[in-house]
Amino acid sequence: MRSPNSPEHEAPPDATARRAGELLRSRSSLSPDVTTLAPGRVNLIGEHTDYSGGFVLPIAIDRVASAAVVISPDPTRSRIWTDHAQGVATFDLRRPISPGSPLPDGSPITPGDWRSYAVGVLSILADHARSHGALHSNLDLAIASDVPIGGGLSSSASFELSIAAAAAEIWRLEIPPLTLASLCRTAEHRFAGVPCGLMDQAISALGRSGHALLLDCRSERAEHVPMPGEDQAAVLVINSNVRHSLSSSRYSQRREACRRAASLLGVPELRDATTASIANSAPLSRDPEAFAAAMHVTTENARTLSAAAALGAGDLVELGRLMIESHRSLRDVYRVSCPELDTIVDAAASTPGVFGSRMTGGGFGGCAVVILQPQAIPVVCERVVSAARDMNFPRPASFRVRASDGVRTLQTPRNG
Ligand code: GLA
Repeated sequence: MRSPNSPEHEAPPDATARRAGELLRSRSSLSPDVTTLAPGRVNLIGEHTDYSGGFVLPIAIDRVASAAVVISPDPTRSRIWTDHAQGVATFDLRRPISPGSPLPDGSPITPGDWRSYAVGVLSILADHARSHGALHSNLDLAIASDVPIGGGLSSSASFELSIAAAAAEIWRLEIPPLTLASLCRTAEHRFAGVPCGLMDQAISALGRSGHALLLDCRSERAEHVPMPGEDQAAVLVINSNVRHSLSSSRYSQRREACRRAASLLGVPELRDATTASIANSAPLSRDPEAFAAAMHVTTENARTLSAAAALGAGDLVELGRLMIESHRSLRDVYRVSCPELDTIVDAAASTPGVFGSRMTGGGFGGCAVVILQPQAIPVVCERVVSAARDMNFPRPASFRVRASDGVRTLQTPRNG
């Protein structure tokens, strides 16, 4: 039997795909023609930089959302079900859908609700098909996911990418991965009301087994950086079990502070700032929130480039040092961490065999990422549980993840 503090067993992606297929069969009595898998992600470093045109270094993980899809037997309506929420979203893709419009059952597409993500992605994909003169039809679609919802591991982007890839495959649209990512981000902005950057969708589209992805979020230049061998280093995710909501005003506030900082500095985006220009700016010194945003983003971009170089050179000690610095900046300067995450990060970082640890994703709860020697995993799991217990925080849950491939299709249309 597993000890209670050992990493949870990872559900293999195939099991998630099977669940999506079963959900479709149980709801529509049809078997899928296409099944897709789209991974969640863990960002190693480069946090809150993507919406300022900066650098990020995420890996796609072996936790996925899976979409099972079939052409709808009723050409006048699409239906979507998911395994993490009750109900069905019913809508008609033959005409453009606007974010504010009610669904045929009269219910509104409420931003942030799962239906806003699902309907949003299909609507944007259908618009793309229309504008390219391609045929598209209504669909029945079921989604299962083993990416923890709201845990900072990109449950939303993996959900979106699994749907987008399924629709693209069944409608035979040739869409390059980064364009697919970008269409999903547009759907998230317009329908779910979340002003996210491109990182989550990009890594879910472009992930590669055994590699991290260095993405320049301005030029969208992507470079895969090999991860160390699995016996040399492990990636451990520790979920604080504190739920965060990205649509919450705090993410938007940080984005707004970055925009203000860039404008006070007279640069197009914070990507273009330097620590010297920030330190010498009189207007910025009068706006402490914008000053902090500029400092975090500028130093984080530099750390991310150094971290990618360290990872490429196999220098895990340097990578770990940069991760710890990144966490400090997120905690003290940008202020997007929380006491539960700080406790986990500190308990992990002080354990022998750990190279580095930090919060990952949007923050305000969610997960920490730890890079460590594999044999140190049980001790780290025990220590974070006991540190959280001492503080009366929720019990953290740890699981090892592996750098995995991006979105993929498991079956092609039978009649294709
Ligand atoms: C969320 C957003 C991303 C990114 C991160 C913070 O995950 O979806 O675009 O901004 O937060 O790095």
